[in-house]
Amino acid sequence: PLMVAGETAVPKPRPSYRLIRPIALVGLMGCGKTTVGARLAAMLNAPFRDADAEIVKAAGRSIPDIFESLGEEAFRDGEKRVIARLLEAGPMVLATGGGAFMAAETRAAVKASGAAVWLRADLDTLVERTGRKNTRPLLRGGDPRVILQGLMDQRYPLYAEADIVVESTPKGSAEDVAYSIIDA
Ligand code: S3P
Repeated sequence: PLMVAGETAVPKPRPSYRLIRPIALVGLMGCGKTTVGARLAAMLNAPFRDADAEIVKAAGRSIPDIFESLGEEAFRDGEKRVIARLLEAGPMVLATGGGAFMAAETRAAVKASGAAVWLRADLDTLVERTGRKNTRPLLRGGDPRVILQGLMDQRYPLYAEADIVVESTPKGSAEDVAYSIIDA
């Protein structure tokens, strides 16, 4: 069909780019790394990997369980190793966990093998999106809005080292954000 109900009236041309290096999506919890990443990978015909999911697979336990039983430091060690391994596998779209890009080694590894894209979102958007699930240990210890504001202050200067910055607002669909990444 030329048009399906619910789709935008004027379909954007499907890009025919071929990814030649990994793209890592970085940004705070709730900014849309997984949703946009999966969409972007499909548009680029590239594999999609989610670092958190790979850590869970490698550890054989959930993220809250890793934080609780092994501690955050052990999680961060595993996170660095898993991302370094994933980046070696060539072109892909990689969604990283929100804290991953805080590690200097990970920032360097991403930049050496490919490019980092920061999905920047405002506080209201992050609070709204993270409120849908209770799977994030860092948001369990207090008021998520206060915690997320603190993480914004701490992390935004480092996310700003990404090669590309794209706004991830509630107005744009995951597909729109993926298109902005391709444009950028
Ligand atoms: C974390 C973000 C989470 C996950 C872990 C720690 C963080 O990933 O890695 O709970 O430090 O910001 P998402 O950003 O995918 O939620």
